[in-house]
Amino acid sequence: MTAAVATEVRPARLGVGDRPYRIGVIRGDGTGPEVVAEALKVLDAVRDGFDLELVDFDLGADRYLRTGETLPDEDLETMRGLDAILLGAVGDPRVPPGVLERDLLLRIRFELDQYVNLRPVIRFPGVQTLVPSHSEDDVNMVVIRENSEGLYSGVGGFHRKGTRHEVAVQSSVNTRHGVERIVRYAFDHAMLPGRRRHVTLVHKTNVLTFAGDLYQRVVNEIALEFPDVTTDYVHVDAACIYFLEQPSRFDVIVTDNMFGDIITDLGAMIQGGMGIAAGGNINPSGVSMFEPIGGTAPSETGKGTINPLAAIGATGMLLSQLGEGGAAARIDAGIRFACTKLASMRAGEMGYSTQEVGDLVSEAAAA
Ligand code: IPM
Ligand code: MN
Repeated sequence: MTAAVATEVRPARLGVGDRPYRIGVIRGDGTGPEVVAEALKVLDAVRDGFDLELVDFDLGADRYLRTGETLPDEDLETMRGLDAILLGAVGDPRVPPGVLERDLLLRIRFELDQYVNLRPVIRFPGVQTLVPSHSEDDVNMVVIRENSEGLYSGVGGFHRKGTRHEVAVQSSVNTRHGVERIVRYAFDHAMLPGRRRHVTLVHKTNVLTFAGDLYQRVVNEIALEFPDVTTDYVHVDAACIYFLEQPSRFDVIVTDNMFGDIITDLGAMIQGGMGIAAGGNINPSGVSMFEPIGGTAPSETGKGTINPLAAIGATGMLLSQLGEGGAAARIDAGIRFACTKLASMRAGEMGYSTQEVGDLVSEAAAA
């Protein structure tokens, strides 16, 4: 573990029980540190009635290149004792592909059993997208991506590697336990205030006849426990069409790990781009990690031009998960304010920096 950087703690105020919330911060690579800085600024602006202790982790490409470590066991142990984690982004062109993704990001998701990847697809006011016909009402769904198994399990291997008869097998692992808990989470989520009580299973049951069948049977079973929730099924390829053509048909989508990865990039584009799409890796009874879903944007690093709204949105989700709904709502209001403001700035051909966007949200959220 690297040095724990504690913010000043005002003793009279509380987080959980009689102590401040302990929030892990992994700034990561590329533009990660820039967007996290703005997210922390906003977090500070809405801190009211609770305190925070930030625990900074030196993880990512620099650490790996310096020491060869991706995620030392003691860092993981420290994470187990936190209330939540905020992650910037990991991945760097200097590191072979997959090293940081698998051994850092996916390892945290798996080891902390963050089995829900919650990715809201919301169109904020004033945000331009590539689909001009969409309104704010059309794009308002949440993708609940299974985050602990499927094709991401790492099960598989090579046979006769490097020969002309090479075989590469990558298996999708779908357990009854894993499918049940994600589907149940989706139904519970559909019952939350503000949701339209409609769950759509997105899969490829016509081809993936084993995994798809398990998902569909579990949806059918759990639906019986939720008479107020309607259900639907859409093939993943057709879902891509509907994201563009009729996104309003979706309220809560439940899907497997790989399909969820792919459709949430498309989801981000109908929200207004990767700069605005936030997500949470959630263990409902453990330590959850929140992140902007876009990558490290190496070409933008250090320019101060990257959009921090996704990281700020992730911070709002983090607060919401901690039960700080009031503070989360203020962040949401701040983001909405900034979006409206940025839309008018763009129209006037004025540029804005990462910091300026962070300031806009902070001011609006603190007000
Ligand atoms: C995401 C990312 C990750 C994933 C990568 C970086 C491993 O694309 O969070 O969507 O595939 O889950
Ligand atoms: Mn992805």
